[in-house]
Amino acid sequence: MSFDLVFFGGTGDLTWRKLMPSLFQAHRHGNLPADGRILAVARDDLTDDAYRAWLKPRLQEADSAKRPSDDEYDQFARRLHYLRMDLAQPSAYACLKSWLAQRSADTVVMYLATAPALFPQICEQLGAAGLNGERVRVVLEKPLGHDLASAQEINRIVRSVFSERQALRIDHYLGKPSVQNLMALRFGNVLFEPLWRRESIANIQITLAESLGVGTRGDFYDRTGALRDMIQNHALQLLTMIAMEPPSTNDADAIRDEKLKVLRSLKPYTAESVQRDVVRGQYRAGSIAGQAVAGYRDEAKVPPDSQTETFVALRTEVQNWRWAGVPFYLRTGKRLAAREAQIVINFRPTPHSIFPGLNRPNRLVIKLQPEDGLQLHLLAAKGSVVVQEVSGGLSSEVLSPVSLDLDFDRAFPTERVGAYERLLLDALAGRLNLFVRSDEQEQAWRWVEPILNSWANGTGGEPRSYAAGSWGPAAASALVARDGFAWAEEE
Ligand code: BG6
Repeated sequence: MSFDLVFFGGTGDLTWRKLMPSLFQAHRHGNLPADGRILAVARDDLTDDAYRAWLKPRLQEADSAKRPSDDEYDQFARRLHYLRMDLAQPSAYACLKSWLAQRSADTVVMYLATAPALFPQICEQLGAAGLNGERVRVVLEKPLGHDLASAQEINRIVRSVFSERQALRIDHYLGKPSVQNLMALRFGNVLFEPLWRRESIANIQITLAESLGVGTRGDFYDRTGALRDMIQNHALQLLTMIAMEPPSTNDADAIRDEKLKVLRSLKPYTAESVQRDVVRGQYRAGSIAGQAVAGYRDEAKVPPDSQTETFVALRTEVQNWRWAGVPFYLRTGKRLAAREAQIVINFRPTPHSIFPGLNRPNRLVIKLQPEDGLQLHLLAAKGSVVVQEVSGGLSSEVLSPVSLDLDFDRAFPTERVGAYERLLLDALAGRLNLFVRSDEQEQAWRWVEPILNSWANGTGGEPRSYAAGSWGPAAASALVARDGFAWAEEE
């Protein structure tokens, strides 16, 4: 298969930090079809060689195992080309067209890694230049829109140029191997499915915690906030994969139909329930791993009186037969105590305990990062004789917590590919399973909108302050405690 992969935003952060290193890994792993060209498009006046020289030191910033040797880079660089484009000019698209017409690649992927405000313009111009034929796909990076109306407007324009099957909306969490494993766990095994429902599950917690702050992205982040940056997309996508019904096939639309049903079943927020069930926070100065770090309002390009949330915790429910009444808690934040993304499934306690001591319920922890694995927490008898008085004068053994640990990085040491590598290869191959369909994305916006409105009109309360290096505001613990539960790290 031959391909031409065009990166709009070819000198931008996303391209050199994530996309090019992932493509290089795909190349190194032998997964990138040999006959493939990569074209970086940007405003700067560069030749192919100048672009190759510009990218090289940037790829060297990767962690040591991922760094290309000089030979490897030279080989990879043969695929790289550069085209200067002023994206507002139709003539620039004519140049792109003639570059692509040097040959007729089987697949052309246009990857929009620019500011999202440029997406409509780029799509319209690609359409006007006739660069939207059957062989062409377009990949759209998040954030797609700022709210429901802006997302719908982007989708309307994209749809006027490309069919739904040609438009690939990226959510890089879907490319993470651990998220693939979530599908495998649920639909490749019989073990959990009978328990995967309200009768056996007490609550589900999804945590996407970061210890980093907003770094150099203060201006972007301040316009965005944690709800738009992480909950509307990554956390909700994870929730759909946990809560969806088994799809009838592994086909993209079969999966996306089921995910959409979950999004439509989420309990809608009202102004009142936003106050009760959503906690927003903002970090103040604190310390991470023993190092003092600044508060959010002192970060570069953040206004000193910013009201933007860097933390969100919320409680929701999936209103259907499988999940009625089971709380789903979602939580994300910057400058938290650890970088840790995980899904915790807390099962119900045994209905009747014959053992003394704590009747500790089973728990399944799906670890997304930094480790990628599964932990099943059980109770077991140690075998040593620990005799305790129990009612009626009998004696019995106290059970101890144990866990079954599965580390996927060790189980599959050589075959793992990173999220962007996987998604780029899927985009080239036209596999749509891991891309978000427009109706899913719009439904996710529809669901978060009452929260955004409530915050915008001041009825949702102020962001609560939390110390950098903590697990967020105390109100996030209270949200879960109200139902008689606790976040995993609090138990
Ligand atoms: C991005 C957000 O989508 O995901 C960032 O814009 C966030 O703010 C990042 O840091 C987290 O991704 P990962 O893969 O590092 O967990």
